[in-house]
Amino acid sequence: MIVHEDDPFNAETARGPLAQSPLTALDAFYVRNHGPVPQHDPSSWRLEVGGLVERASSLSLEDLRDGRFVEREVIATLQCAGNRRAGMAAVREIPGEAPWGPGATGTATWRGVALADVLAAAGPRSEACHVALVGGDVSDEAEPPQRFGASIPIAKALRDEVLLAWAMNGEDLPAVHGAPLRVVVPGYIGARSVKWLELVQLREKPFDGFFQETTYRLLAPDEEPGPGVGVALGEAALNADILIPDDASDVNAGKVEVRGYAFAGGERRIARVDVSVDGARTWRQAELLEDLGPWAWRLWGTEVDLAPGEHDILARAWDSAGASQPEHPASLWNPKGYINNAWGRTGVTAR
Ligand code: MTE
Repeated sequence: MIVHEDDPFNAETARGPLAQSPLTALDAFYVRNHGPVPQHDPSSWRLEVGGLVERASSLSLEDLRDGRFVEREVIATLQCAGNRRAGMAAVREIPGEAPWGPGATGTATWRGVALADVLAAAGPRSEACHVALVGGDVSDEAEPPQRFGASIPIAKALRDEVLLAWAMNGEDLPAVHGAPLRVVVPGYIGARSVKWLELVQLREKPFDGFFQETTYRLLAPDEEPGPGVGVALGEAALNADILIPDDASDVNAGKVEVRGYAFAGGERRIARVDVSVDGARTWRQAELLEDLGPWAWRLWGTEVDLAPGEHDILARAWDSAGASQPEHPASLWNPKGYINNAWGRTGVTAR
């Protein structure tokens, strides 16, 4: 992994391991923390469900797992809004934000119960429009320091794919990924998949914590972060990048294997991935590899022919809405460096 920060721990998956399998290995899965991993005792841990509900409740892990809620499994890609920020920072400085490469994303099998089932038991009141999700970690990055929290619209929270998960790739959820319980919001930016979940609160308005109201918002290039400024990010945007060969690497001239990922975000699907080695004059279609269902990325691969010399390999995905990616991160630059979904671009020297 490539470590961006030791405390709080922040690390991304290197390109090679990310390309190896459509399910990302647990010990290589990226970690994005805004504060220290909280200590918890699973026997005394509780999930409080309250706000605009008929029956507020306090649930233990046993309550969630004793069969009153159906256990479900979902394969979903998580992708941080700061994924690929390095490409944007190369256009113009982004002070105070880690230069994540393309590895702030990964795909896992998540097991748990549907948030929708827990909400149904609590009985949402008709005024409830948003569901706040609050973790047990306190972040000093927030002003004032506070627990990490986010919210999602109730229409999304009531969908089967949104899980309260205690297992990842068939193993107990690792502490760093949110044990004992985390939310997984498939199709949304990673920041809404709250780890170390302690509180579910139904509200009329979106959550008013720092990580919903002030950060994880798309600002105009000349805006400063502030409460309510910019667009609160929700559904992930279409994105794709090249994982093999590595950027700035040497390859053997002749046939060169190119591999990468493509993730549609929201409820969209990946329709096609194109690769160009002649500066976007012509494109060839890559092969889409294993389909892990509606909430997972597609790894893709193709072979290109490279004469000795320097080359830029380009990749762009298309989604089921007929949309594609912008060409260059310069057109996307924003002060927090979110959502760089420009074409993948890898420079290689063929020898
Ligand atoms: N939940 C809590 N409680 N604290 C956090 O710092 N980070 C969020 C989200 N959930 C975070 C959190 C962000 S920004 C992302 S991208 C994902 O968790 C990353 O999940 P992972 O570390 O399991 O890959």
